[in-house]
This record gives sequence, C-alpha cells and structure tokens, in this order.
Amino acid sequence: MNTLTPILTPLTLPNGAVLKNRLVMAPMTTCTGFYDGTVTSELVEYYRARAGSIGTVIVECCFIDNRGPAFPGAIAIDSDNKIPGLKRIADAIKSEGSTAILQIYHGGRMVEPELIGGKTPVAPSAIAAPREGATKPLALTAE
Ligand SMILES: Cc1cc2nc3c(=O)[nH]c(=O)nc-3n(C[C@H](O)[C@H](O)[C@H](O)COP(=O)(O)O)c2cc1C
Repeated sequence: MNTLTPILTPLTLPNGAVLKNRLVMAPMTTCTGFYDGTVTSELVEYYRARAGSIGTVIVECCFIDNRGPAFPGAIAIDSDNKIPGLKRIADAIKSEGSTAILQIYHGGRMVEPELIGGKTPVAPSAIAAPREGATKPLALTAE
C-alpha cells in the first residue's frame, strides 16, 4: 500500500467543507501588517504565492481587540474596517484553489504596552506574567 496516497486525496470536514488535499500550511506570523493591523498588498501576494498545491492555508494569527496585538506588524480583525484587507487575502488563497482559514487570538497579559499606545494590557486576572519587567494587566470584567 502506498501510504502517501491519502495526503493528496480530498477530505470532507464535519461541516461539509471539502479540502482538496490533506496538506495544510501552518500559521506563521510575518509581522508585515500596517501599524494598526491592516493588511498590506505584499502580504496578500505572499499568501497568493503559497496557495495552490497546498490544500489549506491557515493565515497567521490575527488579533481580535485593539489591546490584543502580541507582535509589531501583527494583522488585526478588531473592527469591521479590517474586513476588506482580510478578504483580499482570502480571495488570493481561494483564487489558487485552496481553502483559507484565519487564526485569531488575544495576547492578554503578554501584550507589550508599547504595542498598544502605552495602555495597560488586559487579561482574565490582574496577575503579571512571571517574567522580569512584565506589566500587571487590568482584569477583564464580564461586561
Ligand atoms: C516565523 C514563525 C511564525 C509563526 N507564527 C505562528 C502563528 O501566527 N500562529 C501559530 O499558531 N503558530 C505560529 N508559528 C508556529 C508554526 O505554525 C508551527 O507550529 C511551528 O513552526 C512548528 O511546525 P514544524 O514542526 O512543522 O516546524 C510560527 C512559527 C514560525 C517559525
């Protein structure tokens, strides 16, 4: 039996989405977004160039709140004005026949204040990370 064969066959997910093969590009942060997390044209072309043979591309982690970026140049999904840029990435990946997935995150207490305009990071509890110089975050409320 050729054990490599399944890698190149389609896979249907429980929700009915069909991946054209089992090859997946892991999310890899490129730090190439604009200062506010907007997508750059270079990033769109980066994903277009990698889509095609790879069945599924997981786009690098994308912060969900303006106190959430964990890296300079991180891309954002923190407001509706980010949708057009993210759509350009999705369209580029899909135009090559691949499935596009977006990874989302919030950096929590690991966010550097300098990445969020000097504001205090937020986290589930007001407990600083156990590392030198870490900022004590504000505890999030249910609201
Ligand atoms: C430059 C770089 C950026 C990465 N960014 C992310 C990321 O945004 N999200 C994530 O979950 N993992 C990220 N990773 C981890 C990779 O997705 C992957 O899990 C890791 O490289 C191990 O995969 P490998 O065993 O195939 O090398 C990143 C890795 C690298 C090298």
